[in-house]
Amino acid sequence: MISPEDFIRKDFKTVHGYPMVCAFSYNWERIEQFQCRPDDIWIITYPKSGTTWVSEIMDLIKSDGYVEKQKNIPIFERVPMLESAAPGIMASGTEYLEKAPSPRFVKTHLPIALLPKNFWESNCKVIYVARNAKDVAVSYYNFDRMNKFHPEPGTFAEYLEKFMSGNVSYGSWYEHVTSWWEKRKDHPLLYLFYEDIKEDPKREIRKVMQFLGKNLDEEALDRIAQRTSFETMKTNSMVNYKALPATLMDHDISPFMRKGITGDWKNYFTVAQNEKFDADYKKKMSGTSLKFRTEI
Ligand code: PPS
Repeated sequence: MISPEDFIRKDFKTVHGYPMVCAFSYNWERIEQFQCRPDDIWIITYPKSGTTWVSEIMDLIKSDGYVEKQKNIPIFERVPMLESAAPGIMASGTEYLEKAPSPRFVKTHLPIALLPKNFWESNCKVIYVARNAKDVAVSYYNFDRMNKFHPEPGTFAEYLEKFMSGNVSYGSWYEHVTSWWEKRKDHPLLYLFYEDIKEDPKREIRKVMQFLGKNLDEEALDRIAQRTSFETMKTNSMVNYKALPATLMDHDISPFMRKGITGDWKNYFTVAQNEKFDADYKKKMSGTSLKFRTEI
């Protein structure tokens, strides 16, 4: 029997070459053998890139902008995360998903190499959300401070080195965002940017709506934009992760809904760290057409 002491604040486990959250790494066959359904809609991201934000947008679009179940059911049950598991504390993502009626929403942070075996043949729609690396590093660092599924991150300087070398859960940000960028060429995939949603939420919500094959009026879009603003989501216990036990996430250390801005990296990176990061970034991202904004 696995108990919380086995995975709380424990180091990552390596799964097929990728660092994986210890609690999620048990019984990995459940991920490999997961049965994708053709009408599943996936939300795929590198962690801390706007997953919860876009998940809530997708779910509200599905219900035409009306709030019913969104009031009472936490986001991690409405849009279950495939690989999540907390043995002895709560049901796993695959358990939620297997019981869910179609069409399901499936959240994952998995890199391409770790997807379930029948993922590609099911040809399901994917919404991929990417966020600039500097803000992701800052958000991930603060998340590791409050999220007991992860080991303690150390100082920001130490953490930044680990982030750059891909020695964090789910591995390299650089590989994740660029490999999914390529996949948009031969898969039904909508590639969104956190910074774009920040800049013009309704424009991006409209893109999601069109991708999902829905046609909502302006009033419904306004309702969705209002309900998914950072200020509203921060106090909404169905999306701010305060519904999880404090043994797993301590919002007093750093709230899950922390700042919700673009450019917070400027409050963390020293000039020297920024120069080193930029030089390394240039090398790692040299072969891609993918471009990010670190301020808007
Ligand atoms: S997770 O744990 O990987 O699923 O986290 P994820 O949801 O991808 O990312 C969390 C960050 O997204 C911010 N967030 C938002 N920003 C703007 N508007 C809205 N509505 C919103 N909802 C969530 C959240 O605050 C985290 O970013 P930081 O920079 O830490 O504030």
